[in-house]
Amino acid sequence: MSQAQEQRFFRNNSLSIDVLAAMILIFFTLTQIIGCDKADNPAQPDATVAERTAPEGQVRITGQTTDTSAVSAPAVAATADATPAAASPAPAEAVAAGGDETGKRVYNSLCFTCHGNLDGSGGLPNMPHFGDKAAWADRIAQGMPLLYEHALKGFTGASGMPMLPKGGNPNLTDDEVRATVDFMVTSSQ
Ligand code: HEC
Repeated sequence: MSQAQEQRFFRNNSLSIDVLAAMILIFFTLTQIIGCDKADNPAQPDATVAERTAPEGQVRITGQTTDTSAVSAPAVAATADATPAAASPAPAEAVAAGGDETGKRVYNSLCFTCHGNLDGSGGLPNMPHFGDKAAWADRIAQGMPLLYEHALKGFTGASGMPMLPKGGNPNLTDDEVRATVDFMVTSSQ
């Protein structure tokens, strides 16, 4: 395979794996709701989903490193001494500048499935819906660091339903998840 073909292979495959993972997520949450009264072992589906969603990240990372590291690594090594400061702050600035946009984009592509649409409709029962001030007040009172941690690492509280780590998409960066929490919180208080 040429490098271009390889890149296309990984791009196409990571896309269909994303779609598959999204379907698994939807089926998983549906079975959670339908089987709610007989859920005697809620820890089991959690572990299963974590296992099923894990390889998704690995596939994409492999695709990205094969095409960029080989080509750009020597160049980065050569310039690293000269511009260490310029290289690292860039992503943080990008997130700070486009924080709202990032949050909205990630929310609309994933989190809305459970938390509901931007107009407050949709979403799944028993979870804090977008814009529902009453549902978010106590959560916001816990402080942002804890909300970030729950969104990044997962959390099951009083609802009995799992908030999956990064909403179930391990490909999201921590900054993207934090920006999305910011977006949800500012729209729900
Ligand atoms: C599979 C459904 C599902 C998806 C997808 C999902 N969430 Fe959640 N989320 C939940 C549930 C359920 C809770 C409530 C858990 C509880 O309190 O018992 C929750 C709670 C939260 C909370 C509050 C945590 C707290 O401490 O009260 C935050 C913040 C959050 N989600 C952020 C996100 C973000 C950001 C995304 C997208 C990246 C996302 N969620 C995607 C189901 C989901």
